[in-house]
Amino acid sequence: MNVPLVIAMDGPSGSGKSSASKGVARALGLRYLDTGAMYRAMTWWMLQNEVPVQDQAAVAASAGKPVLESGTDPDNPTITVDGADVSAPIRTREVTNAVSAVSAVPEVRARMVALQREIIGTGGIVVEGRDIGTVVMPEAPVKVYLTASEAARAARRAGDLTADPGATVTVTQAEQARRDRLDSTRKASPLTKAPDAHEIDSTELNLGEVIEAVVRLAKETQQT
Ligand code: DC
Repeated sequence: MNVPLVIAMDGPSGSGKSSASKGVARALGLRYLDTGAMYRAMTWWMLQNEVPVQDQAAVAASAGKPVLESGTDPDNPTITVDGADVSAPIRTREVTNAVSAVSAVPEVRARMVALQREIIGTGGIVVEGRDIGTVVMPEAPVKVYLTASEAARAARRAGDLTADPGATVTVTQAEQARRDRLDSTRKASPLTKAPDAHEIDSTELNLGEVIEAVVRLAKETQQT
């Protein structure tokens, strides 16, 4: 069977999803979509426009306003808001610490899911996020749930944030634990493993090994 390939890559922050997803997309010649960047871009816009992010009604009322555009090149995954490239500012701690509140709002999620399905289109794409295999594309032929121990995830995140002097491993681990708790316990499509997802624990694996495992799964699926 030769189905248009969609690879859903879900899991908590710091599990290595972004590097692995881009690597898999490159290895298989697929597009790549970072849905976390979309929630971050929405959050960045809310902060810029002084929308109180803890006020669900205020966030919901503004959810339709920013125009988001996501690039799908794994070598250059840009994101723009109202035409401006926000790829760098969406990675600040300010956005990171506000994104769980914004992404818990059902009106935000409804808009993001619709945009994501539009971009996914007929497939040929690796999509990373929290709810891809459960909500956005439950029919995706390949679903991966990528995990790693909390300590390994915090160490990777702190490594990503070396430009930020406040981001020690201890601080990152505490902020990450808080974000994971919010992302996993929210009412609207919480982070959870789809029953048919393949769980890969990356604590003891290097990036190449994770990519190889996902590529193998994708090839097996295409042959069945
Ligand atoms: O993957 P990331 O850390 O860049 O994601 C940022 C936030 O966006 C994360 O805390 C939860 C949210 N998110 C979500 O709710 N659903 C997704 N599909 C992707 C991200």
